[in-house]
Formats: sequence, structure tokens, C-alpha cells
Amino acid sequence: MAELRNVGIIGTGHYVPQKVVTNFDLMKMVDTSDEWIRTRTGIRERRIADENTATSDLAAQAAERAIQDAGIDADDIDMIIVSTVTPDMNFPSTACIVQEKIGAQRAFAFDIEAACSGFIYGLTIAQQFISTGYCDTALLVCADTLSKITNWEDRNTCVLFGDGAGAVVLGAVSEGYGLLSTVMGADGRGGQSLNMPGGGSRMPLSKEVLDKKLNTIHMNGQDIFKFAVKVMAGASIEVLEKCNLKPEDVDFLIPHQANIRIIDSAVKRLSLSYDKVYVNLDKYGNMSSASIPVALDEALKEGKIHKGDVVLFVGFGAGLTWGSAVVRWAK
Ligand code: ACO
Repeated sequence: MAELRNVGIIGTGHYVPQKVVTNFDLMKMVDTSDEWIRTRTGIRERRIADENTATSDLAAQAAERAIQDAGIDADDIDMIIVSTVTPDMNFPSTACIVQEKIGAQRAFAFDIEAACSGFIYGLTIAQQFISTGYCDTALLVCADTLSKITNWEDRNTCVLFGDGAGAVVLGAVSEGYGLLSTVMGADGRGGQSLNMPGGGSRMPLSKEVLDKKLNTIHMNGQDIFKFAVKVMAGASIEVLEKCNLKPEDVDFLIPHQANIRIIDSAVKRLSLSYDKVYVNLDKYGNMSSASIPVALDEALKEGKIHKGDVVLFVGFGAGLTWGSAVVRWAK
């Protein structure tokens, strides 16, 4: 078998809708306060797509920016992976819709569903295809319009989420650079803690599903909180050990942006200093799997990541799922 190639991120891009919904706007919709939302979550505002905008619209914009950043053409892409829990429709896949929108006609395309862990899952999948030489260039787009499955009368959930898309282009990179290790995990026993019970084959859309708002996000916040605190630090340590690194070797941490208290706890457990951690959840809320690639693109554009830096990604989400990746920045 031919030697495996090193795989890295060679382009990034993101796109968020223009409409900003602040905590003060939410106070007009549910019994909440800016103070409660800020102190419990760290979120100040989020972006919300308009009624005519679907997930693929955000995804295509982010994808085009990442392709441009990579200095390639859409025609150069061999594979498209879209990570989403809010596909445009059940089928065809949102990846096929994005393929058509961006004109990447040579690419094969499919969706993955690992909720907020989708970026790590997607990176790992793309790595397998490129490292073996099955293909050369992959586009991974993480995009969600969670606003479309939010119950805007439920204060427990509607304050947490936002819409957005983050994209990366992956390709072969020099030895020693790119993805050094990844870990992924799942525990289906916790599936009930965060789900959308209605609208699938278990409970197809019906008047009852709509009346009971079962086609929206249902969450046990405390269960998710406890799980997240445990796996954020656990998965980070595991992925670092896998490539013989220690937390002190990390130059930059980009965690899933769900709750500042969850990020704080991971940062403390890893003994990292805050100038090595990127946080943008105050502006966007939790954008599911788009959170990490949007943060990555912003951090790069702000000049916070340099060639050779060890960058750690870690996320968790519905499933339950989790994942972490270590990259030596190649660009
Ligand atoms: N405004 C005001 N009060 C509120 C609000 C709100 N928006 N939401 C809940 N409350 C109330 C509750 O009703 C409760 O009142 P009670 O004591 O009278 O019953 C009180 O605040 C405390 O509620 P808790 O659930 O104990 O609050 P907690 O400190 O746990 O914070 C939160 C809740 C922010 C949801 C937290 O549990 C959390 O962040 N969990 C993780 C959620 C998460 O990350 N989800 C995304 C996972 S990733 C993915 O796959 C999408």
C-alpha cells in the first residue's frame, strides 16, 4: 500500500446571516433577561436567517469563500461533505444542493449528521479519503439554520442558538503538518437529552406534532452541561496523548461555542491561558457544527494562528457525540 499523505486545512471561509437578534429582542418574546442569558451562557446576540434562506444558502456562501481562500476553483473539488441537522429537505442531501450552487460538478457529495461534533467528524472522514489518495481535495461545510427548528416560546432553548456556516478546504500538506490526530465518540444512551422528536420516521409530521411543537429542539440543559464539561477536557487530553503532545504544547484552542461556562471549565482543566482560546459565542450563540469552523476562520483573519502552531479543536453535541482534533497549522 502506498504511503499515507498528511492532510491539512488549506482554505477557510464563513458566512452568517445579516439579521442580529439581541438578548433584548428575546426579552420581548419570552420571560428572560439579558443578565440571565449573559451570565448563564455568555451569549449577547445571534444571527438569524430570514424565511427565504435555507441551510444550503449559508453553506454555499461559506464554501465559495473557503474555495477562494484556498486559491482553487470549484472544479478542483473531489468531495463535498456537509454537516447539518437542518438540511434543506430530507433528500436530496444538502451537499448535493451545495454542489450545484457552487458549480463543483466533479465532486461526489454527501451529508453527515453528528450535530455539534460534525466539524471533527467531517475532518476525520475527509482525512481518510485524502490520506489514502482516493481523492485530492475535499470541501467540508458545516451549516445550520437552527432558528428553523427552534421553539421561540421555550426560553430554555431559544436563547442558546444561532444560524451560520463555516467551511474548510482540505488537501495534502507537507510532512509534519496538518491533522496530527483526531478522536470521535458517541453514546446513544444520551440521545433523549437533546433531540427533535417529531418530523422523522418515528413521528412523521402531523397536526399533533405541530401543535405540541415536537418538530423543534428539546433539551435537558443540565444533562448536556454535565456531559459537555466531562468530554471537552477528556477528549482534548486523549487526542493530544495520541500524537504525543501535552496541553502546554497547544498554541491555540478553538472549542465548540455552546456556553462560556463549559469553555471555562475545559480551559481550567487543561490549564490553558485565555489568550490561547477563541470565543465568539457572544456574537453568534451556538451554531451547532458551524461554530468551530466559523471561529477558526475569524481567528485566522485576525492573525491569531500562524504556520507551525498546534491548534486544538474540541466539540460535543446531540447523539450524544463528541470529538477532538489536533492540527499543526500548515499555511
Ligand atoms: N431566562 C430566564 N430563566 C431561564 C431561562 C431563560 N432563558 N432558561 C431557563 N431559565 C430558568 C429555568 O426555568 C430555571 O428556573 P426554575 O429554577 O424556576 O425552574 C432556572 O432558570 C435555572 O435553570 P437551569 O436549567 O438550572 O439553568 P442552568 O444554569 O443549567 O443553565 C443552560 C441552563 C444555559 C441551558 C445550561 O444548562 C447549558 O448551557 N446547558 C448546555 C446546553 C448546550 O450546550 N446545548 C447545546 C448542545 S450542542 C448541540 O448539539 C446543539
